[in-house]
Formats: sequence, structure tokens, C-alpha cells
Amino acid sequence: MKITLRLIVSLIIIVALVAIGFSYYQVKIERQRLVGELERRTILLSESLEESVIPLAQSKSFIKLNRFVERFGNRERLLGIIINNIHGEAIASTKAISGYAPLILPQVLNSISEKRAIHSFKKIDIKEVFIYTKSFEDEEGNIAGALSLFQDASFIDVRLSEIWKYNFIRLVILSIVIVVITLLVIRWSITGPIAQIAEWIRDMRLGNEKVKKKTKTINSDVFAPLIKEINHLAKTLTLAQKSVEEERIRLDAESLWNADKLKAYISEKLGDKKLFVISNREPYLHLKEEGKIKFAVPPGGLVTALDPVMRVCDGVWIAHGSGEADRLVVDERNKIRVPPDNPSYTLKRVWLTKEEENGYYYGFANEGIWPLCHITHERPIFRLDDWTYYQKVNEKFGLAILEEIEDIESPLILVQDYHFALLPYLIKEKRSDAKVAIFWHIPWPNPETYGICPWVREMLIGMLGADLIGFHIQLYCNNFLDTVDRFLESKIDWEQFSISRKGHISYVKPFPISISPEFSVNNNNIPSKDALKESLLKEMDTNASYMGVGVDRIDYTKGILERFRAIERFFEKYPQFIERFVFIEFGAPSRTHIKRYRELLAQTEEMADNINWRFQTKNWKPIVFLKGNHSHERIMPFYMAADMCMVTSLHDGMNLVAKEYVASCLEDSGVLILSQFTGASRELKDALIVNPYDIESMADAIYLALTMDEEEKKTRMKKMKENIMDNNIYRWAANLITELTRL
Ligand code: G6P
Repeated sequence: MKITLRLIVSLIIIVALVAIGFSYYQVKIERQRLVGELERRTILLSESLEESVIPLAQSKSFIKLNRFVERFGNRERLLGIIINNIHGEAIASTKAISGYAPLILPQVLNSISEKRAIHSFKKIDIKEVFIYTKSFEDEEGNIAGALSLFQDASFIDVRLSEIWKYNFIRLVILSIVIVVITLLVIRWSITGPIAQIAEWIRDMRLGNEKVKKKTKTINSDVFAPLIKEINHLAKTLTLAQKSVEEERIRLDAESLWNADKLKAYISEKLGDKKLFVISNREPYLHLKEEGKIKFAVPPGGLVTALDPVMRVCDGVWIAHGSGEADRLVVDERNKIRVPPDNPSYTLKRVWLTKEEENGYYYGFANEGIWPLCHITHERPIFRLDDWTYYQKVNEKFGLAILEEIEDIESPLILVQDYHFALLPYLIKEKRSDAKVAIFWHIPWPNPETYGICPWVREMLIGMLGADLIGFHIQLYCNNFLDTVDRFLESKIDWEQFSISRKGHISYVKPFPISISPEFSVNNNNIPSKDALKESLLKEMDTNASYMGVGVDRIDYTKGILERFRAIERFFEKYPQFIERFVFIEFGAPSRTHIKRYRELLAQTEEMADNINWRFQTKNWKPIVFLKGNHSHERIMPFYMAADMCMVTSLHDGMNLVAKEYVASCLEDSGVLILSQFTGASRELKDALIVNPYDIESMADAIYLALTMDEEEKKTRMKKMKENIMDNNIYRWAANLITELTRL
């Protein structure tokens, strides 16, 4: 718009200057012409007047002379006549101008002395008057006097101002025509084609089908070279989009993803390149037990999800070596092949000092970021020392990964979780060719909440080093974009879900994590659900018709106390279930160096004890609390046999226990009670969705689960199982790798 205005204003100024110039010239010429004409006419008049005036003047017949001039002066435009004698005295004049005799005296005297005609213009009664004076001679040829004619010359100004007026009107009309034509030309030849090109590029970006047609309709010589280039670009982009789309369709269409398929897919995508994973928690830790070195799998969704993927990829997993016997089993580069009983990939351990572990892991990550991201009303604590250690440890892991990828071109690196927000930036700073993704396993709150972190900008800048930032669900992606929008100078594309900062683009996408399909049990060689349940309860030294199960790290985000309260309320409300329902809780103590976690562990045990004390009978108690780090093999039969499983997190990124239970449930005869505040609740819609803060309705949900019609249980469970089998961890990994390799 600005340019159009500038163009129009410039054109009008030029046209106006030219018009004024020409008008001025025209007026000048016209004036000369009119004055000349007036002069000629006056000369003719004076000549014809002279013949009669001379004899009358000579004979001094002044009365006759006066009468004569009065008669003669009565003509068009002639205002009057004055006749002077040789001394300049007026001897005759028309009445109307007789008073102006002194006014013309100098002109008269000059004309007499110089013996020639003189003319001038004078303003008389606001009228422009042309005064022509000519001396005349007597019969002997001596100067006898002068006669002056007064001609009305005001018509000249009228005529000239008309010229100005007409030229001004012409200029106005011309300007309007110029404005209209300029607007039309700009619209047709510039803004129109630009708008079409912009729409076309937009369609192209969005992969719209009508792109090709658009190229034909853009008619513009000016943009021909640009359109040619965009055509090339369109073709390349269409091809790229097509191949991504084909890939996506292929991923979607191929029904079940499994280890073999992922293996083939990865070797096709990466060739002999290895995949690098970095996390704080290692997938296997080594411990000393009765003088022997043993290994264990730590609890937590991250390990459950990523270990099957790494077994397939044979990549390198870099993690904190936290087991007491970890150093004893690694090679000189701190590496060991894992799983120890079936080596399939490499684990590289990074050692941390006690201070580093306290500051970075317990302090900043778990007392700061963890409660910050989980909205469970647990106050986050941020200390400068912890932040310093967090930075230091991120740098330490940065060196470890840089050493590993030294000789590898464009390595693929998957950074895991809130422990390493700074790592993507640190890696990219040194290795811009690396493709880096960070996957955030926990929720991402809204900007107001996240803004509590004193180092919010540093955390965001660190994460934005990544090419791809993954969350479990769309809501966390939205929150993340909002947070970046609030705290950093950057360009956010809400259509593409990307953030561009200092020339680098990070894409933000949801990748709902899942479990391996191997969790789904094969019914062969397994006794019936009831038989398995009976034997497990016997093992627990109790007896009941119904069994519920809960599996958690003892963490305040998991809502374990709320769950126990709901169980207590259930027995109050539905006492008919006393001695008929047992709830088995597998609780793995976690982060116990943090006071809050130790307190929670004690509270959990105490609450289980209190409820048991209140309701237990001789051979039965309502809650069996199994404290400890239990292996998957140990937990699996309970998943299989349980009539219901309770996942009551107050806030949870995904929660894989919910998925493990559904995948393992025998005969599809079980009910999942699932908190509405878990990421999993977005996928497992056939669970009984509960608000863990609402104890009353959780008690009712337990009742509903235990009394649910067998058919309904099966229908719900089947649907959830299908969903999990379909969207399993291999598909998750394939999607992530597809997206990362595409960038
Ligand atoms: C969550 C986190 C993981 C973590 C796991 C266990 O799932 O997202 O990063 O590994 O909890 O916690 P821990 O602190 O024992 O590693």
C-alpha cells in the first residue's frame, strides 16, 4: 500500500508541475496576444479619431470637440477619451473619465515631447485600463496636442484566469485518471500476481493439490523469472512431501510394528549408522549381592520404553553409572554390552561425583524441574548451586557424546528428558551436522507455571538447540510453544509447530510413548486367570475373590495416598467386599535422598497399615504393600490375573503402567481405573477415567470395576489392547526417526 501511495503521489506531483509550467506559458502567450490585439484596435480608433479632432482643436471649438469625443467615446470597451493641448492641458474629455486627466499627464507630456505614441496599463476603479496616448500635429506639421484613449482591459484578466481555471480542472481530472489507472495497473500487474504467488506458495507448503493449476493462471511478465524458480521449488517440495507422505502412509498402513520391522526400517534409514541415546537413568545397573555382582533394571517409564528400541538398533546409550558395582564391569572406555544376559547394544556410563549427583539430579532436576512440570502442588525448590551442577553435568555428558560421535557424519542423537535440557544446544554448538531430538517424558506446564524457574530462558535456549522436540501429547507441545513465545525472542509457526531462532528451526511434535507389544501375553501354558489369581493371593498369604493391582515408583505425582484413601472409602461404602477384595501395591522406593520422598514412603506404609488395621480379619487384609524394586517378571503375573488396576496419578506425562496392565490382562477380563491427569487417558478412553482428588467417585469406580458385566469388560479391554498393540514402542521409535531423518 505504501508503495502504491508513493507512486501515485509522485505521478501527481510530476503531472501538476508540468501542467503548471504549460499553463504559465499559455497564459503568457495569450496575454501578449490580447494586449497586441487591444493595442491594434486602439491605434485604429485613434487614427480615425485624429482626423476629426485636429481641425476642431485648431479652431479651438472646444464645445464641439467635447460633444464629438462624448459621442465617439460611446463604443464597446472604450471607456473614454481625453484631448490635451501642447501644454498638457485637457481641452476636451468624455465625462466618465474627465477626473483622470492628471493621472495621465506624465504620459501625455512624454508623448508630446517625444512625438510618439505611448501606452500603459493602470488600475482605475479596480478595473485594469489600457491607456493609449498619441501626439497630433497641426496643418503646418507642428505638434498641437495629444489624444488619449482609455480602453477597458479587464477582459484580459478574466480570460487569463479562465485559462488557469480550465487547466486546473483538467489537472484534477487527469489526477483522478492517473490514480485509477495506477491502482488498476498495480493490482493487475503487481499486487494481484504477488497475492496469487503467495497463495500458491502457501498451498505448496501445505501440500495442496491445486498447486499445479495455479502456475497456469499467474500471468505476469514481471514475475516470470520468479515464477519459473518457484516452479522448480514446487516440484522439489512436492516430491519431498510425497515421499514423506508415502512414508507416513507406509508406517500407518503396515499394521503391527514389531522388533524385526523396526530393525529393517532402521537399517534402511540409517544404513550402518548407530543411534545414540542419552539419559540420566541407565537401563541396567550392577549391584553387589552376597559378594556376587548382579544386575537390575531400574523402575520408570523411560527405561521400559527405550530398552526394546535399543535392543533392535544396536546403538550406544549414554547414562549415569549409578549402580554400586557399575565401575567393576565396564571396559576402559566405560562401556559394557547390555542386556547383560543377551548383549544387544552398548551402554556407556558417565561417572558423577556425589556433589554433582546431589546438585544436578536430586536438587535441580528432582526438587526443581520435576515438581515444576508436574502440577501436584509440590513447591519446586531452585538453588543456585544445583543449577551450577546441572550446567556442569550437562557439559560432562556433552563431552561424552561428542567423543562418541567424533568420526561419525550427521549422527542421530536422542536426548532424553528433563535432566538434559541444555544438552541439545551444547551438542549442536560443536556439531551442527548432528541431528538432535530431545524427548521430554514428563508434562510441560503453562508459561505462568514454567516461568517460576529462575533459569527459564537458559533451559529453553538449551532445548531449542534440538531439531526436534518431542512430548507425549499435543497439549504439552502447545504449552511449550506458549512458553517460548512468552520468554524468548523467536518466530513461532503455529501451523507447522516450529520455532525459528537465530536461523535454527526446531519442530515440536507429540509422540505418545508406549510399550513393546511383547507385553501382550501368550496364553499358552498359562493357567486360567482365576487359578493364577488364587495362587498369587495364596503366595501373598491372603485369600479373596477379587484382586486389584497398582505399580508405582513411590512418588508424590502418582497419587498413591489418594488411591489408598479411595480403597478405604470403598470398604466403608461397600462393606460386602470385605474379605472379597485385595489390593496389591508394588511400590518401588525412589529418589530417597530427597526428604519429601522419604516422608512419602513412610506415609504410604503408614496409611496401608492403618487401613489394614481398620478392616483386616484373621486371614485377610485389604492392602498388600510390596515395597521394593520388583522386576517385570515378578509383576507380570499380577497384571495378568488382576481384576482391576489403579493408575491414579495427580499428573503424569504418559504412564506406561496403564498400558502394561492392558497389554498383559488375561482373557481381557479386567478393568483399568485411570486418572484423567495422565497422558495415557487421551488414548485409553475405555478405561474408567477418574479424578484422583475425588475420593468418593474413585471408591465408586472401584465398585463399578468389580461389578462390571463380563461382556463390557472384554469389549473395553479389547479396544484398549488394540490401540496399544497398534501404537506400540516400535511405531513410536519409527515415527521419531522418520521425523528426525526428514529434517
Ligand atoms: C520418569 C522420568 C524418567 C525417570 C523415571 C524414573 O519416568 O521421566 O526420566 O528415569 O521417572 O525416575 P528416576 O529418577 O529413578 O530415574
